[in-house]
Amino acid sequence: GNDPGGMLKALWNLPEQCEEAERIAQAIDVNFTATEIKNVMVTGLGGSAIGGDLLRVYAGGKAAVPVIVNRDYTLPAFVDASTLLFAVSYSGNTEETLSAYAQAKEKGAKIIVLTTGGKLGQMAEADGYPVIKVPGGISPRAATGYLLIPTIVIMAKIGLLPDAGDEIKDLTGHLRVLREHLKPAVPVEQNLAKQLATRFYNRLPVIWGVSGTTEVVAQRWKGQINENAKAPAYWAVLPELNHNEIVGFEKPENVLKQLEVVILRDRADHPRVQKRIEISKTIIKDAVSGVTEVYSSGNSSLARTFSLTYTGDYMSVYLATLYGIDPTPVKMIDFLKQKLA
Ligand code: F6R
Repeated sequence: GNDPGGMLKALWNLPEQCEEAERIAQAIDVNFTATEIKNVMVTGLGGSAIGGDLLRVYAGGKAAVPVIVNRDYTLPAFVDASTLLFAVSYSGNTEETLSAYAQAKEKGAKIIVLTTGGKLGQMAEADGYPVIKVPGGISPRAATGYLLIPTIVIMAKIGLLPDAGDEIKDLTGHLRVLREHLKPAVPVEQNLAKQLATRFYNRLPVIWGVSGTTEVVAQRWKGQINENAKAPAYWAVLPELNHNEIVGFEKPENVLKQLEVVILRDRADHPRVQKRIEISKTIIKDAVSGVTEVYSSGNSSLARTFSLTYTGDYMSVYLATLYGIDPTPVKMIDFLKQKLA
């Protein structure tokens, strides 16, 4: 039908997914305390790692310990018994994550596994580590609720974060409002996700985020355009991009004319960065195809971040539709996994 692979259905169900993820994580017993933990690491790849980045930014404003994201076969040398390590793989079969899990076990890290099952689920159960088991059947990139919310709930349970119950409620309430504006039945004139897809269609999307607020969302939009629309996209973050990328809008003029820039903004952006954005727009606007700004909406930081990821998720599916492409299969990822087997 109109939703091959069920991508739109999975998107629609995001609020319910977040609520279910919270319930699943609340039922998990953890037998250590905050004083034992010096750092938190999320190890994973792709759709299973982006939740780690969202956790890193969320916890950055609230937690007394750092959250580090690891996208590799190996772990940094500092990982030890004072590390709380979330090994996250939706399928449970990603080889980099299985390798990192084995290392974490050797190093004596406090491991919690987040998966639908697979080899990772089996190994963790055999090794006696807590397994947060989430429902399968959707793409990892459509499972951001399942892959982020449990890490927040567990950190709060341990006392590494304040209780997030109210914030999750605020988030799911806001997502329920948003989806009524983003769904396919809403025509392009009223549908921001469709408008953005139209802007990006036959152009090269460049997404700018802001450190500490929208940086992960920019990365997420880029990844969603790649995986859902099967198209290239690039992202960068302010203020850093003011120290390199901003110089690169002079040549070649015909290529620059293909760039469609979207700047993701949040009310908590640093005031100096807000000023930088205004100046940066004037620098690039005549060289590129277009510059658009999208502001987050909602109360809590979680709701504001997800307001932008949700808009980008829908945008990427509409962009796939414009290209006449099924958003769900990721043939090249499967091909690589198969070639490496
Ligand atoms: C996202 C996607 C990939 C996977 C990645 C890791 O939808 O298909 O980015 O998330 O290949 O696989 P998992 O998440 O199963 O560990």
